[in-house]
Amino acid sequence: MVCLGNICRSPMAEGVLRHKARELGIRVNTDSAGTIDHHAGEPPDRRAQATMVAHGIDISDLRARQFRVSDFREFDLILAMDASNHADLMAMAPDQEAKRKVRAIMELVPEHPERSVPDPYFGGDAGFEHVFHMLDRACDRLIDELR
Ligand code: 4NP
Repeated sequence: MVCLGNICRSPMAEGVLRHKARELGIRVNTDSAGTIDHHAGEPPDRRAQATMVAHGIDISDLRARQFRVSDFREFDLILAMDASNHADLMAMAPDQEAKRKVRAIMELVPEHPERSVPDPYFGGDAGFEHVFHMLDRACDRLIDELR
């Protein structure tokens, strides 16, 4: 799961997917990263953590890191939160195999009106709740695909 800072959207996405996989007994190696290193080492934004706790999910153990080229080898699927993250990842991809692993997360929910998960960082709590519901739907689809 990849966003810009790895403190709001992508750790929430990782938390939602990890939670669903655990509940269903599906083994999947989850991780998240940001395209920038500005928040590296930080826990998720407190508003992201609070929104997740309100939905019964603890992401306090997660720590931000920057996406690295080796992630293209390490992971089978790399989900970008928005079009800008997607473009940054495609520009970093060393070959076609790496490019094929990159998808926009909302491609999983084609009927949803929004193609990108909006950055909630500069907004209020409602933005985080909206992000949660988008990620919840996308991760349900991903779990269906994994099964
Ligand atoms: P995220 O949100 O990409 O969902 O983690 C942001 C976090 C930090 C910044 C921007 C977006 N920032 O500019 O520091």
